[in-house]
Amino acid sequence: MIQPDPLYIKNLRVDPPLILAPMSGLSHTVLRQLIAEYGGCGLYYSEMLSARALPLETPDSSPWLRSTTRERPIIYQLLVSSADELPTAIEKIESCNGDGLDLNMGCTTALITKRGGGISLMKDLRRAEVIVKTSRSATNLPLTAKIRLGWTLDWDALKEFCLMLQDSGVDAISVHPRLKQDRFKRPARWEYIGRIKELIDIPVIGNGDVDSPEAAMRMFERTGCDAVMIGRAAVRCPWLFRQIAASLSSHVHNESLPEPPDAYNRFVSLLETSFEPEYTFPLLKRFTFYFAKNYAFGHTLWRLVHNAGSVAKAAELANEFFSTQTPSLDSL
Ligand SMILES: Cc1cc2nc3c(=O)[nH]c(=O)nc-3n(C[C@H](O)[C@H](O)[C@H](O)COP(=O)(O)O)c2cc1C
Repeated sequence: MIQPDPLYIKNLRVDPPLILAPMSGLSHTVLRQLIAEYGGCGLYYSEMLSARALPLETPDSSPWLRSTTRERPIIYQLLVSSADELPTAIEKIESCNGDGLDLNMGCTTALITKRGGGISLMKDLRRAEVIVKTSRSATNLPLTAKIRLGWTLDWDALKEFCLMLQDSGVDAISVHPRLKQDRFKRPARWEYIGRIKELIDIPVIGNGDVDSPEAAMRMFERTGCDAVMIGRAAVRCPWLFRQIAASLSSHVHNESLPEPPDAYNRFVSLLETSFEPEYTFPLLKRFTFYFAKNYAFGHTLWRLVHNAGSVAKAAELANEFFSTQTPSLDSL
């Protein structure tokens, strides 16, 4: 059994090498605090932040910039389409005490790709290169890039892109090995994480479909990746990092399985103390969509919360639901 070493992204130590993925509307301070309370997560990403809008925002005006000292280390992800946007956006990340900076090169949302952001950078090597080099010269912070496999399966193009990232100053690459058009139903093509790991000298963070300690171990073993990044399953089970960390090391204890209703209620209470009322209900609905998968009749929980109209009513209905249902955690 592999016991992965801590990951170093430049001088940033990530121990254990288990990472929360950037997810819009999900990877915010509340989810990160909840995950931190369970333990086992070595690095937190923010959701994507618009490099154009960021200079005008502050943690008071934008909830997405908020974080506590418990969610450390933290890397802020930038959605960028032009190098001009970078210097002031990077200054803002530094002023918010970010431990690093990530460039989003994988988002497939049409609105974003049309404006030249996300995965459209994988089709435009030269523009991507300028963006990376500008970021590199603007900061000494650890710099990462998150990519997919591209628009079509073309290993030569992907190879060239990854080598460009490395040569232009990126300190680690996160690989979500799906093509632009791949839906989540199609399994992530982990073999490309392994191929990229063999190609480059900087660390490779593997991502895609890890939803259990066994799956995390398989990803380390099959791909040789330096760290595993988890998205959706960490929303469903904020305690998953602790379980994985316990399975990787004899030093971390995974005393007892958590009670999902406790996690849900803690999420609600952190939500109410961290965000203004206009944000809390939409964010609770988004969280519940994934969390509900802990229950065989999760669609009922999702519907109850979705139609509740307020956080207080949603919490009341959710707790009524929990009192009649047993979670099906073993299916993870
Ligand atoms: C709701 C949602 C929002 C996401 N938002 C982002 C984002 O802001 N930036 C990003 O790089 N990837 C984003 N992703 C992709 C995830 O970071 C991750 O690559 C993907 O979910 C695969 O990992 P998983 O199988 O562990 O979920 C998002 C995914 C989901 C499901």
